[in-house]
Amino acid sequence: MLLLLAFCWRLLAANALDEVTFDPLAYVDPLIGSSTGGNVFAGASLPYGMAKAVADTNSTSNQGGFAMDPEAFVTGFSGMHDSGTGGEPSLGNFALFPFTNCPNYGDINQCTFPKTSRAAYGGFSSSGVNAKPGTFGITLNSGIRAEMTVTHHVSLFKFVFPSEGVDQQPAQPLILQDLTDLADSRQDNGSVAVDPTTGRITGSARFRPSFGSGNFILHFCTDFRGAEILDSGVFVNSRASTDVKNITISRSINGYPLPGGAFVRFNSGAEPILARTATSFISIERACEHAETEIPGFGFEKVSEAATALWREKLSPIKVSPKGVAGAHLTNFYSGIYRTLINPQNYTGENPLWESSEPYFDSFYCIWDLFRSQLPFLTVTDPTAVAEMIRSLIDTYRHVGWLPDCRMSLCKGLTQGGSNADNVLADAYVKGIDGGINWEDGYAAVVKDAEVEPFDWSLEGRGGLDSWKALGYIPVQDFDYKGFGTMTRSISRTLEYAYNDFCISQMAKDMGSGGDAVKYVESSRNWENLYRDDQKSSWWNGTDTGFVGFFQPRFLNKTWGFQNPLNCSLYDNLSICSLQVNAQETFESSIWEYGFFVPHDQATLITLYGGPSAFVKRLDYLHDQQITYIGNEPAFLTVFQYHYAGRPALSAKRVHAYIPSYFSPTPDGLPGNDDSGAMGSFVAFSMMGLFPNPGQNVYLITPPYFESVNITHPLTSRTAKVINVNFDPTYEAIYIQSATLDGEPYTKNWLNHSFFTEGKELVLTLGRNESTWGTRVEDLPPSLGKYEGFNGTYKARGAPPKYKGEFRSLRENWGLF
Ligand SMILES: *[C@@H]1O[C@H](CO)[C@@H](O)[C@H](O)[C@H]1NC(C)=O
Ligand SMILES: *[C@@H]1O[C@H](CO)[C@@H](O)[C@H](O)[C@H]1NC(C)=O
Ligand SMILES: *[C@@H]1O[C@H](CO)[C@@H](O)[C@H](O)[C@H]1NC(C)=O
Ligand SMILES: *[C@@H]1O[C@H](CO)[C@@H](O)[C@H](O)[C@H]1NC(C)=O
Ligand SMILES: *[C@@H]1O[C@H](CO)[C@@H](O)[C@H](O)[C@H]1NC(C)=O
Ligand SMILES: *[C@@H]1O[C@H](CO)[C@@H](O)[C@H](O)[C@H]1NC(C)=O
Ligand SMILES: *[C@@H]1O[C@H](CO)[C@@H](O)[C@H](O)[C@H]1NC(C)=O
Ligand SMILES: *[C@@H]1O[C@H](CO)[C@@H](O)[C@H](O)[C@H]1NC(C)=O
Ligand SMILES: *[C@@H]1O[C@H](CO)[C@@H](O)[C@H](O)[C@H]1NC(C)=O
Ligand SMILES: *[C@@H]1O[C@H](CO)[C@@H](O)[C@H](O)[C@H]1NC(C)=O
Ligand SMILES: *[C@@H]1O[C@H](CO)[C@@H](O)[C@H](O)[C@H]1NC(C)=O
Ligand SMILES: *[C@@H]1O[C@H](CO)[C@@H](O)[C@H](O)[C@H]1NC(C)=O
Repeated sequence: MLLLLAFCWRLLAANALDEVTFDPLAYVDPLIGSSTGGNVFAGASLPYGMAKAVADTNSTSNQGGFAMDPEAFVTGFSGMHDSGTGGEPSLGNFALFPFTNCPNYGDINQCTFPKTSRAAYGGFSSSGVNAKPGTFGITLNSGIRAEMTVTHHVSLFKFVFPSEGVDQQPAQPLILQDLTDLADSRQDNGSVAVDPTTGRITGSARFRPSFGSGNFILHFCTDFRGAEILDSGVFVNSRASTDVKNITISRSINGYPLPGGAFVRFNSGAEPILARTATSFISIERACEHAETEIPGFGFEKVSEAATALWREKLSPIKVSPKGVAGAHLTNFYSGIYRTLINPQNYTGENPLWESSEPYFDSFYCIWDLFRSQLPFLTVTDPTAVAEMIRSLIDTYRHVGWLPDCRMSLCKGLTQGGSNADNVLADAYVKGIDGGINWEDGYAAVVKDAEVEPFDWSLEGRGGLDSWKALGYIPVQDFDYKGFGTMTRSISRTLEYAYNDFCISQMAKDMGSGGDAVKYVESSRNWENLYRDDQKSSWWNGTDTGFVGFFQPRFLNKTWGFQNPLNCSLYDNLSICSLQVNAQETFESSIWEYGFFVPHDQATLITLYGGPSAFVKRLDYLHDQQITYIGNEPAFLTVFQYHYAGRPALSAKRVHAYIPSYFSPTPDGLPGNDDSGAMGSFVAFSMMGLFPNPGQNVYLITPPYFESVNITHPLTSRTAKVINVNFDPTYEAIYIQSATLDGEPYTKNWLNHSFFTEGKELVLTLGRNESTWGTRVEDLPPSLGKYEGFNGTYKARGAPPKYKGEFRSLRENWGLF
């Protein structure tokens, strides 16, 4: 009910607003995706901030700390988080927890210290939750109100206590700080100390990353303001003492970290008590320094206003016309953009692993998700940040030996498929991102992915390189004695490695030696080696889908294996499809869906699938039968791949089938995890009407959801504009009839990054019917192979290549080079 009212208000507001008063922050709802598995971080953060303050809950989907789930109870308030991730819950270190007083007239030992048991005091109702960019607030059923805001490394919590606690006694607040994290991953010898005079709590502990290997040490420093200190001490398990001021605690022997921490008690709860807590990967001293320099005065309003102002500044260059548009669309759009700016996190100056003057970013979680639209989105809106991220990736390669595919909390994360940082580097390279990136080193890093097999390719690089080079595909049941990793996903790894190589080839044109560019273009065609032209696909009940020709697993001896092309699709709840040792040959998606993952050579794929209309039919089947799931990243590009078959109108139609029906501005409004801001960027790009084919200098054009979209480039200050003529907010007129670019007729159904840097103007004239705009071969986006069979001239291409030797000669015969 409450939500509905808010919704109507926004609708009215949208109509009333004009450009001058338009405030993008009015349309950011950080709670979107905070329940039912969105795993979004809903708390207070700055763009790319390290401090992320929120109330942590004991929900089973508390990956981002807070979850607006009915069964969730608050277990603490902590200042380090990730956003939208799967895997184990991330960070959540060093939770604070407030009590108004301890029962039995202030008996310390009657307060409830351990995280699992104090959750009983962390009940809350969703109506008491407020989240805005830079601030978060929640009221506990105990009557305690907690507000929080942040600077880059420091969280500031304001606890407001009821006048009375238990036993009708006046408030005598106790605030504890726990050596815990969300995943209970603390390792040996956490330590904490409280200074009885100042009440400062400091400490350190070692933890494990949530989707990776190794461990990390985090330090903290907490100070209080607002009331006189009564006493202080430490707790171990459920018992506490004011006599002891510091402890070093073991993990304990039964796998669950022994609860332990410190507390400070105050004489009065009449005034709010502020807790300023900073973390550092360097040292306790550094944490205290951050706290003292970033929030010297404990001024809550000042800090939260600065945070709000920074968010407004970050979002203001992106302006859409609210005219006629439902408030829900504006909220989806701006909240999506907001979420692209939470992670990765800027840990520059906070990396203890190596000495460097380069920036250090963390929480690339994971690049398999981020390369598709999140990092490309930031390339449009925040190229300076993207340049720093890429410098950080390259610096990680310099010092760790490899580009990461996933990285969190200073640790190596797990690789899901290919070496997809290659795509990230290429995407920025072809779009002309500069920002002090050493592209020669960047090129060396991507070439290493392609050429050198790491010993542990679960964590970096690629596996099976000998087979890849000898056979031109990753065989199912490969023999690989040089490097080790989970020997599954042979199909999706082949497809991703092929695309990685295409991305490398684009950089090789400028930086490679001799034949590099040709060599990587050649291996980028390896996807064809797993295409089996006579493979059919039936549903599990035996009904034939009617389509022939699918990727299939292939053995070392070049004979075919078999995987049902529908396994790992949305409704397959039997197959094992992730990183398990017994998982399928496709990662988190079906052969059906991976059947479209040839981002660089749609023309050849279209030909293999029987020409453009057969391709469209297959793409329709993928979506209509819900084989694909928009809640997982491989689905993103498939929404727009109609462009390559000369049917841009169908991409427009398809995107409207997903947005808003799968995306609503509510806590449960996201399908699947947000995965950093991957889902957010999908929504933002889609609604903006320019979707990237990541790794290429290509944006596919569909009409924006708004009458106009203006994006001011932060470096050139030029404003790129997309204007819909005949804009129809009921979205019946979503088909482009004609277009102009800077006043000249424009028939291509795509454009490149110069649109943003040079601030061009794209005017789209819309209608209710599909037109011929953008449908001719010369209008289609670039593709490695030739577009064939348009104009009804399709001819079957004949048997596909069976193995590499034959493949090569066929390619030469066809003159594809
Ligand atoms: C969360 O805490 C509440 C209160 O103690 C408890 O009832 C609930 O079972 C806990 N939930 C989980 C998932 O542990
Ligand atoms: C933890 O502390 C104990 C006691 O000081 C010491 O014996 C042990 O080696 C320490 N363990 C680690 C991992 O530092
Ligand atoms: C811990 O407390 C003891 C006294 O109980 C003191 O001697 C020692 O210096 C303290 N250590 C730290 C790290 O504060
Ligand atoms: C974008 O710019 C155009 C041309 O200057 C203007 O007409 C339009 O109102 C602007 N739209 C927004 C949302 O600012
Ligand atoms: C990252 O942090 C460094 C050090 O504080 C700062 O100089 C840089 O501007 C930050 N980068 C971004 C994109 O915010
Ligand atoms: C088999 O399953 C497919 C997909 O769910 C469905 O479309 C088809 O009607 C089913 N066939 C029979 C005979 O039940
Ligand atoms: C090829 O290898 C597969 C898997 O080891 C095996 O089942 C098959 O019999 C082999 N075929 C030939 C022709 O060697
Ligand atoms: C798998 O899905 C089917 C059909 O959607 C459903 O009937 C069945 O209960 C599911 N099984 C499990 C284990 O979830
Ligand atoms: C894959 O599909 C087959 C049907 O072809 C089904 O029996 C099986 O449960 C699915 N999953 C696995 C892991 O094989
Ligand atoms: C981008 O497109 C413009 C035409 O709009 C063209 O002049 C330019 O060469 C293209 N840039 C690249 C890098 O392809
Ligand atoms: C648009 O298509 C509909 C049928 O879908 C047709 O009735 C109508 O005449 C078409 N309008 C135009 C302007 O072509
Ligand atoms: C049909 O072929 C002609 C001549 O080759 C070409 O100009 C035109 O663009 C083609 N049409 C389509 C829809 O591809």
